[in-house]
Amino acid sequence: MKAIILSGGKGTRLRPLTYSGAKQLVPVANKPILFYCIDNIVEAGISDIGIIISPETGQEIKDAVGDGGRWGISIEYITQDVPGGLAHAIKTARDFLSDSPFVMYLGDNLIGMRISKFVDEFKAKSPEAFILLKEVDNPKQFGVADVSEDGRVTRLIEKPDVPPSNLALVGIYIFSAKIHDAIDRIKPSSRGELEITDAIQKLIEMDMNVESFILDKWWLDTGKKDDMLTANATVLDEWLKGEIEGEVDDKTKIIGRVSVGKGSVVKDSTIRGPVVIGENTIVESSFIGPHTSIGNKVKIIRTSIEHSVIMDESELCDIERLEESLVGRRVKINANHKLHKALRLMIGDDSVVEV
Ligand code: DAU
Repeated sequence: MKAIILSGGKGTRLRPLTYSGAKQLVPVANKPILFYCIDNIVEAGISDIGIIISPETGQEIKDAVGDGGRWGISIEYITQDVPGGLAHAIKTARDFLSDSPFVMYLGDNLIGMRISKFVDEFKAKSPEAFILLKEVDNPKQFGVADVSEDGRVTRLIEKPDVPPSNLALVGIYIFSAKIHDAIDRIKPSSRGELEITDAIQKLIEMDMNVESFILDKWWLDTGKKDDMLTANATVLDEWLKGEIEGEVDDKTKIIGRVSVGKGSVVKDSTIRGPVVIGENTIVESSFIGPHTSIGNKVKIIRTSIEHSVIMDESELCDIERLEESLVGRRVKINANHKLHKALRLMIGDDSVVEV
């Protein structure tokens, strides 16, 4: 069994963060989303992994992931010239995949369970496709499945105006080599992409066996700010161990599960977990509230934050209360009380500021 992880695409919904970087590298609990995908695939015993990258953000992904040595595997990079759709990405990886069955994992999807169970089930039943479904409130934003009373998938539609059910397609699929024949028979959708949803629908029309599983654990498609904050909170809630490797002084109160990375210093503050603080970060006279991730080389002085993500090398000083915020890399936020109630901003394109 092989695996491909899709880390191309444009990431328009997470702008401005994705102007300067790939959306699959945006951190959740201080670890890039893409790393959770690789962990999950490797834990399922798959060591032949190809990562689909785009010409724009491919180098950044290569720099972050490397050759796969940190997972004890070797990783191949496959450049997709244009973001032509998920089925187009499979076409691009055709040589790498050869005729092997494979897992396709979207590099911005996070699920709250191991995929090894699905890989085992695929091997036992040998269907042509194995898909994961999840009940959602907003099915129009996803591929949606129509499922018969006996649990068979009868139809799949990409982002329908009138969804036939609330069962969305999760971005983790397992295919046999038959998917290539199906892809050869589909045409680009109205958004100009070769949709994997249409290719699986084609398999159904070809009378091939398409198995599905309804996920009862959490699933997060980290496309937008609120998704990112939910993903961050969920991962901190479920997976954070709480290890103090940095320095924490006597005046600081640590409540609940809190991680403080090497070289970080926390002084005269209250940290209420679950909270992760990266390496070489300074927190002074501040309150860091639940569900917050603070990256590496960050400075937080006389500031109160909760339910937020602050990425590497940013500085926050004298901010009375910051919540539900996603702050990118190398951002400076200072309160200047001499300006009374005036705001003085320098903000990049597509930013959102609520005051
Ligand atoms: O997240 C689940 C959803 O993912 C499914 O419910 C949909 O059926 C499926 O089409 C897909 O929808 P999205 O519109 O969310 O896909 P997105 O364009 O965000 O791409 C998903 C990932 O694949 C993302 O990491 C970028 C990468 N990608 C995307 C395209 C279009 C590629 O590597 N190449 C591409 O050509």
